[in-house]
Amino acid sequence: MELGLTGRVAIVAGASKGLGRSIAIGLAREGANVAICARSQDSLTSTAKFIQETYSVAALPIVADLRNHADIDRVVDGTVNRFNRIDILLNNAGGPAPKTFEESTGEDWEKAIGLNFFSGVRLIQRVLPHMKSRSWGRIVNILSSGVKQPIDGLVQSNAARAAMAGAAKTLAREVAVHGILVNNICPGRIQTERVNEVDAATARRKGVTVEEVRRESCREIPMGRYGQPEEFANAVVFLASECASYITGSTLQIDGGFIRSLW
Ligand SMILES: NC(=O)c1ccc[n+]([C@@H]2O[C@H](COP(=O)([O-])OP(=O)(O)OC[C@H]3O[C@@H](n4cnc5c(N)ncnc54)[C@H](OP(=O)(O)O)[C@@H]3O)[C@@H](O)[C@H]2O)c1
Repeated sequence: MELGLTGRVAIVAGASKGLGRSIAIGLAREGANVAICARSQDSLTSTAKFIQETYSVAALPIVADLRNHADIDRVVDGTVNRFNRIDILLNNAGGPAPKTFEESTGEDWEKAIGLNFFSGVRLIQRVLPHMKSRSWGRIVNILSSGVKQPIDGLVQSNAARAAMAGAAKTLAREVAVHGILVNNICPGRIQTERVNEVDAATARRKGVTVEEVRRESCREIPMGRYGQPEEFANAVVFLASECASYITGSTLQIDGGFIRSLW
């Protein structure tokens, strides 16, 4: 299938490792130029180098803390200065502290909403004019299976993702007329550093080993294993492509069958 991504320009947020990195690589593999951002200069630079050398597209690394609106502005302005367009936005970042409601402090909540809601809102606000000017755009928000089935011990994530899902659904209806499609993708358990942290926190809370937590998680997943970042990225790349031309306002889980609900 020709995805029609050659020459497109994507901003991939949180792309120094994990899901964001795999998505940036997946888009580059299909011929898109990418601007990638995260806080760690070294891993961002090495990711950009790997992409450029492997796929012969341009990869622009921009060090940025997504909790800081001035940094978000730098990401968007830097991308436009370099490529003169923005076609695709991958809204992604790290996850909030794995805590229960009673463990979560006011500061935790502010950080979680800042990173997993306001950063996405700000990025979308800034890229929309560029997409509208070309009557084409793809916005994909990386959320969590917690949007459909809240996860114990991840209350801040469950709440912040639900807020983003509500905003995205509303936005999808507002901007469809401009050729801009907005969708959410929810990872279940995909093997990254974030999942290692969450599993370690669950092990501490339950007083069991990390291996026991993993075995228990895998029992809940019909496919019996965690997903790989590339398996997740393939679905994101499709939603970011020309081929997803009649899909908007959807929330798709990539979870090996983990979520039990119908929707
Ligand atoms: N993996 C899963 O199975 C899973 C399941 C459910 C939900 N999710 C969610 O999906 C998202 C991506 O997950 P992941 O597993 O890829 O996480 P990850 O391995 O922790 O990677 C997170 C990425 O975001 C960047 N980042 C974190 N905080 C940032 C900040 N303040 N400003 C800029 N960049 C920031 C990190 O780079 P720096 O540290 O260099 O900034 C890194 O590139 C997270 O929100 C996670 O909670 C993942």
